[in-house]
Amino acid sequence: MGALPAGFAVRRIGPADAGALVALAATDNLFDEDPGTAPSGVLDPDGARDFLADPSVLFWLAEAGGQTVGFLHCCIQRRRTPGPWAELLLMEMGTHAQWRRRGMGRALVAEMEAWMRSNGVAEVWVPANTYAVGFYRKCGFATDEGEILVKELH
Ligand SMILES: CC(C)(COP(=O)(O)OP(=O)(O)OC[C@H]1O[C@@H](n2cnc3c(N)ncnc32)[C@H](O)[C@@H]1OP(=O)(O)O)[C@@H](O)C(=O)NCCC(=O)NCCS
Repeated sequence: MGALPAGFAVRRIGPADAGALVALAATDNLFDEDPGTAPSGVLDPDGARDFLADPSVLFWLAEAGGQTVGFLHCCIQRRRTPGPWAELLLMEMGTHAQWRRRGMGRALVAEMEAWMRSNGVAEVWVPANTYAVGFYRKCGFATDEGEILVKELH
């Protein structure tokens, strides 16, 4: 495994960082399993601000040399039952294709777990794509029973 780039750091972003989210959307294909796919495209700055201002959104950026090299997005899901007040749904994460297998993914997950410990959240779920399952296992995730289904309205 190679070294992390100089100045590598992970930080949680908020509404003031909408520009970073807009920039990420323009090249987020580079954080995909297949960087050859099209990026999400142009993101409206107001939409980006609203997204980052949403109290259920947790978003971390990994940066080095002024560039985004990774990100992790979670949704805080309140629980109906006794016990911890919420759990996390790990919606999306990615390490820039040129920087994989250097510990960035682990560093992003560690930030998420630090947030969970500080905020009394004990469980995180991820609907993982097949490519990333080995990574999540290395980070301590286990397969749950049942299946994740999806329905798209047309
Ligand atoms: C999955 C992903 C985030 C991993 O990021 P990364 O920065 O390469 O991960 P790390 O370098 O921190 O790897 C941590 C450990 O997982 C292992 N690992 C990383 N990717 C792996 C993979 N695809 N399959 C199996 N093991 C993997 C590493 O070898 C390392 O093991 P080690 O600590 O024993 O040496 C990255 O490959 C990625 O962005 N993939 C495309 C987008 C994607 O699939 N996102 C997940 C959507 S659910």
